[in-house]
Amino acid sequence: MKKSILLLVLMLFSLLGCQQQTDVPANDVLRYAFETYSRTAKALNPADGLPRTTDADGHWIVKPARDWTSGFYPGVLWYLFEFSGDPNMKQYAENWTAAVEGQKDATYGHDVGFQIFCSFGNGYRLTKNEDYKAVILKAASSLATRFNDNVGATRSWDWIPDSAPWTFPVIIDNMMNLELLLWAGAHGGDSTWYDMGLSHAHTAMKNHIRADNSTFHVVDFNPETGERVRGLTWQGYADSSCWARGQAWGLYGFTMVYRETQDTLCLHAVERLADYYISHLPADYVPYWDFQAPDIPNEPRDASAAAIAASGLLELSRHELQPEKKQRYFQAAENTLKTLCSSKYLTKGKQNDALLLHCVGHRLAGTEVDVPLIYADYYFVEALVRYRAMKQQQ
Ligand code: GLY
Repeated sequence: MKKSILLLVLMLFSLLGCQQQTDVPANDVLRYAFETYSRTAKALNPADGLPRTTDADGHWIVKPARDWTSGFYPGVLWYLFEFSGDPNMKQYAENWTAAVEGQKDATYGHDVGFQIFCSFGNGYRLTKNEDYKAVILKAASSLATRFNDNVGATRSWDWIPDSAPWTFPVIIDNMMNLELLLWAGAHGGDSTWYDMGLSHAHTAMKNHIRADNSTFHVVDFNPETGERVRGLTWQGYADSSCWARGQAWGLYGFTMVYRETQDTLCLHAVERLADYYISHLPADYVPYWDFQAPDIPNEPRDASAAAIAASGLLELSRHELQPEKKQRYFQAAENTLKTLCSSKYLTKGKQNDALLLHCVGHRLAGTEVDVPLIYADYYFVEALVRYRAMKQQQ
């Protein structure tokens, strides 16, 4: 009898021990993020530009509000306000959010969604400030100008490179910006914006996802007939390869569209993307920058793709009803976050304004390779906040 009680106690201890080992240190890392971002939010002036990557000394390099990444820094501040409830952090978030307001009128690209929804979107979610909502609705009207009825999608970029003279490029990244259209269309804006968002998702589903469940980065369309011209890449290794961040944008994007619409086709699409993504990961769950990069394992990893995918997988696991799928996606996200929270990826103790090391912007162009990137931090912090909430409910 005594022996079996002892065995039971030992089993309980070992279970508790395992639990500690497997959990992500979300609170500790969010506290580190809070300290790191408080310091720069106070020291820097939003009028000088918004953080995008860091220099060799670990200081933020800032860009004007028109840069596609301008909404992420205020977005991180909002998540850290959500985590801490700290009034100073709220004030920082408000100050930095105000710096991107002018982007609500931007009709020159799809990135108005990233710029306004990560900043004003999070601000509205947490404060219900009606002025923020007005900015979001205006931004949605700007994005809607890019919708083409023949293609059934919004055009991503206006610029046309000599090397790839596309006519109506739609990039997988653009899935992310449908949140602006879907949300605004259902919350007091023009209801056709919602239809545009769902139509874009269906167009991408048919044209960006390959038979093996990987994705094209760019698909070019004929804007007069709506016909698909071809699939290609801009930031990946090859037209036929799968760019890791693109797959992560698609995974997160289709999950978000499912959340906003309950469209089951989107849930099936994201399961395909997630299964491809997870089955092509190395053992530590941080992907190489392209799944078919030629010199794996000597290629750079992309922590930004890992952070985006982790956050998307957490949300996907919340929507799944089958326990096996729920667990598989949660486990993949947890494994990813554990690696990102390790000293290999986290800047803790290394004097850097950002949180995550080892991201890749555009490998073949040789820009922003193996550096911190503000959007990696944004999705990392979002994922930690989501993870923490999910663990509290378990
Ligand atoms: N949306 C641009 C990028 O992912 O690099």
